[in-house]
Amino acid sequence: MNPVPRAAQDQENLNPDRSAGVALSAAQRSNLSPLTAWGYAWWRARSLGLLGARGFTLEREAALFRALCRPAPGQHWLDVGTSAGFYAGVLARSGAQVTAADLSPAMLRVAAAREPHPSIRWTQLNVEASDLPSTSFDGITVGATLNETRDPARLLLELSRLVRPGGQVWLMYLPRTAGPLQALLSRPSLGGLTFPDPAWVARQLPGCGRTDGLSVGAVRFERFERSGGR
Ligand SMILES: C[S@@+](CC[C@H](N)C(=O)[O-])C[C@H]1O[C@@H](n2cnc3c(N)ncnc32)[C@H](O)[C@@H]1O
Repeated sequence: MNPVPRAAQDQENLNPDRSAGVALSAAQRSNLSPLTAWGYAWWRARSLGLLGARGFTLEREAALFRALCRPAPGQHWLDVGTSAGFYAGVLARSGAQVTAADLSPAMLRVAAAREPHPSIRWTQLNVEASDLPSTSFDGITVGATLNETRDPARLLLELSRLVRPGGQVWLMYLPRTAGPLQALLSRPSLGGLTFPDPAWVARQLPGCGRTDGLSVGAVRFERFERSGGR
């Protein structure tokens, strides 16, 4: 059940085209291009610095994630919108089994070449409607995919279905500032991005409670835990 009415969600997310029947947002379509996939890792290594988190390298992001989520051997994680495979690689090197999902075959090709780890299963999938079995993951990582997916409420609801009781969801995203640049990038023709409010995000994960939340520059990191674990 989604606790927020659709009209209110659309207003809160700034993106006016969410219910217009478009299959993918412009941002999602741009990620299908081999050129975007080719350049993505270069951009990812610099993006947090450009977003106000100077000195916050990928190594520091990985260390923050490992410290708060403690991925471990024997666990099964889902990396949602893996792109060049950053979180999938961190997880595999921690000993976890990883399902690394992305809409874009071009991204998956680049990721598999960058992170050729036998514990990673690269999967082309729209995680908004995944058909994966319920409660099948010990943990889920979502690095910025929340900003790009067409219907973030649907994606978050799916995550709460997929994570097991006691399991965790790690989110990295750009939260809403209501500035003019975000309003522009939210327009369907200019990306159809979503910049969600952290309180709104928490409401879309039924059964999950936020245990950690911190802002680094313009970027927000949050860890949720699903209730019911031992
Ligand atoms: C901002 S990038 C993700 C970056 C990556 N998670 C990281 O931390 O480096 C967004 C990626 O999510 C993928 N994507 C967007 N919506 C998706 C969806 N609904 N299901 C699966 N992948 C999606 C895009 O193809 C793109 O590769």
